Amino acid sequence: MRQPLPSAWYCVGPADSLSGGRLRAVALNGEQMVIGRGKDGAFFALRDRCPHRGMALSKGPFDGQTLMCPFHGWRFGTDGGCRDVPTLSEHDAADFSRIRVQPFPIRESAGFLWVNPHLGAPVGEPPAVPELGFKPAGSLVVELEVEASFDLTVLSLVDPGHVAFVHDTWWFRPSKQLREKVKIFEPVMHGFTMASHATTTSSPVYRLLGGVPEVEIEFRLPGVRLERIRAGEKHVANYTFATPLSSNRTMLTNALYWSMPALNLLKPVARPLMRQFLGQDQRVLQDAQKGLDRKPTMVLFGQGDLPSQWYFRLKREALEAGLAGRTFVNPLERRELRWRS
Ligand code: FES
Ligand SMILES: [Fe+2]
Repeated sequence: MRQPLPSAWYCVGPADSLSGGRLRAVALNGEQMVIGRGKDGAFFALRDRCPHRGMALSKGPFDGQTLMCPFHGWRFGTDGGCRDVPTLSEHDAADFSRIRVQPFPIRESAGFLWVNPHLGAPVGEPPAVPELGFKPAGSLVVELEVEASFDLTVLSLVDPGHVAFVHDTWWFRPSKQLREKVKIFEPVMHGFTMASHATTTSSPVYRLLGGVPEVEIEFRLPGVRLERIRAGEKHVANYTFATPLSSNRTMLTNALYWSMPALNLLKPVARPLMRQFLGQDQRVLQDAQKGLDRKPTMVLFGQGDLPSQWYFRLKREALEAGLAGRTFVNPLERRELRWRS
């Protein structure tokens, strides 16, 4: 239960980071992978380990069709199959066609690449890859590595209680006072949404949109928070993805998309603000992790902590459904939550 879900799609970085035949080494759930894009345009993800002596294939050249191991020159196709062992004599009967590197499924969506690290036969239907419902005029991506477990990091995506104390910057939360909040939560596939409502927030970020925007926040397994803001034809989306790198390191990726070309001008200002915001999470998460390392228990308390409890319920259901080979059934119900933040 403390491990990240084994069968789910995790963000492994922006899709445009693989342009020009580049290979990238990525960590995902304790696994080292090499990802790339072939001449045919298809993305691939392979275990970053040559079967011969364990060399990282990401350190070798890639010609758009085969990856060459820099240790003894073995070549592998983007499907993981061995294509050539150049040191083999013509008179050697050894057959390399059965040698394979483990491939992993990879997809592109919302400008990012998503990998499912599960090995073996698929278990259940993994949560869908996040999509973007409009054509963005621009986007801004900030990635930040957090030295904390995946669960602790994901909880920060659904935890309303920390916002007033951790994200107390003028531009995000000008008022210092805690106010009563009443929000309706509804289950959706593999998660829950905070139902769309006319926001009453005084945040200058929302005011940029003009009018009274509608905000909808969705959380879904394995660690995805999708905030969609709409004012008439104008769209802004703030997506946050948590990716388990190893047992105590988690990547937080934040992507802001907007439909209005005029907002492109704000990009140089928005980037440091987004870094500041994520850095606030990074600092408290790393310090809290040290406390959890000494004693791993948490007291989840009051309605403001219910979304955190729901995360664990959703995750347990996904694990149990996967083990039993049955369909995931969302265990949550629609309800109103009250807290102060
Ligand atoms: S380690 Fe890869 S070819 Fe020898
Ligand atoms: Fe936060």
